[in-house]
Amino acid sequence: VHLTELRTPAVLVDAGRVAANITRMQALAGSNGRALRPHVKTHKSPVLARWQLEAGAHGICCAKPGEAEVFADAGFDDVRLAYPVRPEHAPRILSLLDRGVRVSLAVDRPDVVAAWSAAMRAARHRLDVLVKVDVGFHRCGVDPHDPELPAWLVALASMPGLRLTGLISHAGHAYRARSADALAAVADEEARLLHDVAAAARNRGVALGEISVGATPTARYSAAMPGITELRPGNYVYFDRTQVALGAATLDDCALTVLATVVTAHEGRIILDAGSKVLSSDRATGYLTTGIDSRGARAERPPDGVLEGYGAIFADAESPLVIDETLCIERLSEEHATVRVVGTTALRPGDRVRILPNHSCVVANLVDSVSLIDGTAVVERLPVAARGRCD
Ligand SMILES: Cc1ncc(COP(=O)(O)O)c(C=O)c1O
Repeated sequence: VHLTELRTPAVLVDAGRVAANITRMQALAGSNGRALRPHVKTHKSPVLARWQLEAGAHGICCAKPGEAEVFADAGFDDVRLAYPVRPEHAPRILSLLDRGVRVSLAVDRPDVVAAWSAAMRAARHRLDVLVKVDVGFHRCGVDPHDPELPAWLVALASMPGLRLTGLISHAGHAYRARSADALAAVADEEARLLHDVAAAARNRGVALGEISVGATPTARYSAAMPGITELRPGNYVYFDRTQVALGAATLDDCALTVLATVVTAHEGRIILDAGSKVLSSDRATGYLTTGIDSRGARAERPPDGVLEGYGAIFADAESPLVIDETLCIERLSEEHATVRVVGTTALRPGDRVRILPNHSCVVANLVDSVSLIDGTAVVERLPVAARGRCD
């Protein structure tokens, strides 16, 4: 099947680009002596997770038990839940452990840790836990400067039913960085904070063997930082417009695109059949633009760190290498994209376009399957097996 025969909108995944992205991230981790544990929330596909393990990843990372269950069913036996999973889910975690899956999860509260300890002890199991540290994103995690933290780590290390294996963090604020230097500084600060917490624990006799960090924009800096044992990026498998704008990828690294059709055209605008139901309403952040500003000129830097538009359109639908800077997806309805045209365009109703989405993880979550492609040939349909497993 040729690309042009697909019904649109269609989510395409370029197999060669995925393979290259997997190889490159594995090489970055491996050459620096770090373990790689990809977050599979990006592709939600056991097939692609298998590619990652075959390339050398030592396990996978999921968000919630629902994702972990899908991957356990597919035979994955080492799953880290980089999420403060509530103890109400203990029966599900125990069932994974009973099936022989090595499960670990993130914790950041003494009351929750006590409940996990009680649940695991009652079931005569031991659960690996990593303490989540807030390294600046201010979402989950303990405050690394909390004077009570070292004593809590000591207490946690001796709780029945648990095995404290290390520290875990996610520098999500890296997505707000406004320069490469700012990004590097986020990674630097993350490594320093984790090092200091681990050192304070060590001084009290608690050895923390694992220091796990994870985010695609910071991976290139974190890989070489002392003390880090594991990288958990997820988005790198596909990349997207945000990663390009953060300097983490080039356009020809981007593996996930959306194929759309021009449904109608009017003065100064064309309408595509891909709306928020496939592109999502996520904005792209970053400091390098791949789009145009509101005056139609190429903006060197998005002024507030948010790029214009709900994706970027490639100049050639069959060869996604260069963005057509005269087209801006300025508005989405559920089933329509309104594209502002600066000057004129050769695009006519019925023509196909390839869109680079702002955020590939959410796009993958919006479709039951993606089309795996090799150039312009559709190779197979790949189910997004863990799609929607947000429980
Ligand atoms: C806890 C955690 N770890 C790792 C990742 C992977 O980061 P990225 O999407 O930047 O690759 C995420 C992403 O949201 C996350 O929330």
